[in-house]
Amino acid sequence: MQIRVVTGQPWEAAADLLVVPVVGEPDFAGELGELDRRTGGELSALAAFGELRPKRYGTALAAPGDLPVKRVLAVSGGAAEEFDREIARKLAATALRRLVNREVRSMAVWLGPVAAGLGGDEALAAELVARGVVEGEFEPKTIYREDSDAAPPALDQLVLIASGDAGAVAHGAERGQIIGEGANMARRLSNRSANDVSPQVLADEASAIAEAHGLWIDVIDEKRAAELGMGMFLAVGKGSDNPPRMIVMRSGDAGEKDALGRHLALVGKGVCFDSGGISIKPADRMEEMKMDKIGACTVISAIATAVRLAPGLPLLAVAPAVENMPGGHASRPGDIVKALNGKWVDIINTDAEGRLILGDALTYAEQLGATHLVDVATLTGAVARSVGNIVTGGFATPDPWWAEVDAAAARAGERYWRIPLIQDHMPEMDSWYGDIQNTGSPDGSLVKSGLFLEQFRTVPWAHLDIGGTGYFRKVYPYAPRGATGVTHATLVELALAGAAQG
Ligand code: BES
Ligand code: MN
Ligand code: ZN
Repeated sequence: MQIRVVTGQPWEAAADLLVVPVVGEPDFAGELGELDRRTGGELSALAAFGELRPKRYGTALAAPGDLPVKRVLAVSGGAAEEFDREIARKLAATALRRLVNREVRSMAVWLGPVAAGLGGDEALAAELVARGVVEGEFEPKTIYREDSDAAPPALDQLVLIASGDAGAVAHGAERGQIIGEGANMARRLSNRSANDVSPQVLADEASAIAEAHGLWIDVIDEKRAAELGMGMFLAVGKGSDNPPRMIVMRSGDAGEKDALGRHLALVGKGVCFDSGGISIKPADRMEEMKMDKIGACTVISAIATAVRLAPGLPLLAVAPAVENMPGGHASRPGDIVKALNGKWVDIINTDAEGRLILGDALTYAEQLGATHLVDVATLTGAVARSVGNIVTGGFATPDPWWAEVDAAAARAGERYWRIPLIQDHMPEMDSWYGDIQNTGSPDGSLVKSGLFLEQFRTVPWAHLDIGGTGYFRKVYPYAPRGATGVTHATLVELALAGAAQG
């Protein structure tokens, strides 16, 4: 998709379709009034009819009148006082998803109302609109089927109608396009099924991405993992005929520090299928557990996006990839294994496998010189019950590191809510035979999942639990069912904070 920035009035740009964002109650006093006159009063008639209500992500398709487009699509951003970056992006995605199966090759978007809703920053509006349009194009129904009529139009051209500095707007749009493409790459990989994407296939995909972006990659097989002492990682992987792979990718040199003096590592849970293992899950919704690799797909994609935006940026990504299966070689409840950091771990529940593979991955990242860690994982169902599917649960220590993650999230337009690491729960994970159990009593199990991971890091660390936000179970106006791409943009912003300013 080519992006063209035009400076001018929203009624001047020629395209198949013009998107008119409406933030708050439609105000026909200004430019919207002129647009309305040129449609022959279509927009105000729709408003009078009740179509242009400030119901967020509501859409109305209108005849163009004298405008140089075939149709006008009004998209509501909801109440003006609630409008933010996340809504700006989702508004743009909604526009594209409203056009499933329609003949649209070029789409013009009037940036004015979006920029006004974001404090007048047109470059930022362009970034979020471009990102939203790209993310809106993603349709998992077309991963395996070619003839699906469910896909939103693949645009040849996105025309952004700006009023100010076209260069800054174009730069913002390009940034948004790259971030959106990265999110879609993660989503596409995440949505693929477990009979398609084994740990080895995930490693092969990572290798292809590394090659395309000039990244160093190391894929650790089960023999090397045993030599290294990754006992928790291997304990999860050994129940499957598809052997585990620890995927390690890097941009820059080993241990190289970024402009903030960090060697940042992005760590992602890559459970290609989570049956629960011997502590097997109920059949209901088990098919969703092919999505348990979203964290890995996200960090693999995020490192590629980060280097597209800042070539050579020092950055590490570690993605432990396994299949959690029951079988003759599977770990049993009560098995005691030695973690890479030397702790003895008592596997009480083989379904609490994410924390096992991540624990060793965090230790390994530190061994490779990481000074700051952030992990992403579909770690618990509990996080979805607590904060839902729009807000990602976060854990971090120490506080200033959370503040940096939170600032990156604000730039990315993603929502997080921090959950406290209350140390009082630690004794509930004491093990009779080992140093720690991988689960405790159900009370505070979400907190305990974070406390467990905390035992495997010594440097600043944040944990993002996307058990609720990683994938949608139903269709939204702005997104299909399946992987959402969540945290990708936050990770990219967090990494880019360490890019030298040029
Ligand atoms: N992958 C699951 C968590 C999950 C479940 C994410 C449903 C998204 C949707 C994880 O490995 C798991 O099984 N967690 C258990 C932990 C429990 C055994 C302490 C859970 O959440 O029930
Ligand atoms: Mn599990
Ligand atoms: Zn899992």
